[in-house]
Amino acid sequence: MNEKVNYGWYHKNIMIFGLIFGSIALLIFIYSFILSGFLRIIFSIFGILGLMVFLWPTLGLFAINIRTDNNRSHPTVNCKEILELKNPKILDIGCGSGRCAIQFAKNLKNGGQIFGIDIFNNAISGNSLEKVRTNARIENVSSNTTFKYGSITEIPFENHSFDVVNVSYVIHEIPDKEKALSEIYRVLKPNGWLFITEFHKRNLFTFIYNGLFTFRYKNPHFWVNLLTQNRFNDVIYANSGPIGIVSALK
Ligand SMILES: C[S@@+](CC[C@H](N)C(=O)[O-])C[C@H]1O[C@@H](n2cnc3c(N)ncnc32)[C@H](O)[C@@H]1O
Repeated sequence: MNEKVNYGWYHKNIMIFGLIFGSIALLIFIYSFILSGFLRIIFSIFGILGLMVFLWPTLGLFAINIRTDNNRSHPTVNCKEILELKNPKILDIGCGSGRCAIQFAKNLKNGGQIFGIDIFNNAISGNSLEKVRTNARIENVSSNTTFKYGSITEIPFENHSFDVVNVSYVIHEIPDKEKALSEIYRVLKPNGWLFITEFHKRNLFTFIYNGLFTFRYKNPHFWVNLLTQNRFNDVIYANSGPIGIVSALK
């Protein structure tokens, strides 16, 4: 039987939690209609709050997962220049199940080696080192991919190791972004390229997907300022629907 790749869904556990509490909120809201007076107001307020906090972002997560499963917001779709480089060394930080790293490995035109690191916090993301290695084997890219444990704030590679560093949907989760950027700067070769893919806050679709949790994301100028202040050059921000891609040079 043919083995199938499994890139998984982001935040499956959070979605289950959101669905349970969202359903309870929906019941509370429906129940408010058979009440009257003060109780009706209290139940409907709690119901609506519960729907906004739990059900809305959970449905948004479903939509995000479907979108990323279709690879519509993928850096290999948006950053075609990387694929043309000659024999590049590329590091994908927070590689997860390998969605980006494996696509790079499959689509590079002129050779190259892809490395992926992740803290593989399985409980939250559902990703694991075993899963990404299995995906790479099934996709026939084991020979030009290497995956291992590693954090963005302590990257397990020598200085000046990479032509490209890719960080997709990771850095908004990192409290010490300055430390992360100084580590990326350290492992990039001179003139090396950094690509960051993130949702951006000031966008209707980001709000539709995330509801109240839109606050987790940043505005485009945040990323441009942060990279400029952390020694990166030629910082460019490009929109692709609710997704923003920041590219910069060391
Ligand atoms: C939303 S997933 C994105 C996965 C992948 N980059 C993609 O686009 O499909 C975020 C990933 O970042 C990883 N992550 C979180 N904190 C990290 C850290 N400090 N260092 C490296 N990876 C981290 C998580 O384990 C998770 O796999």
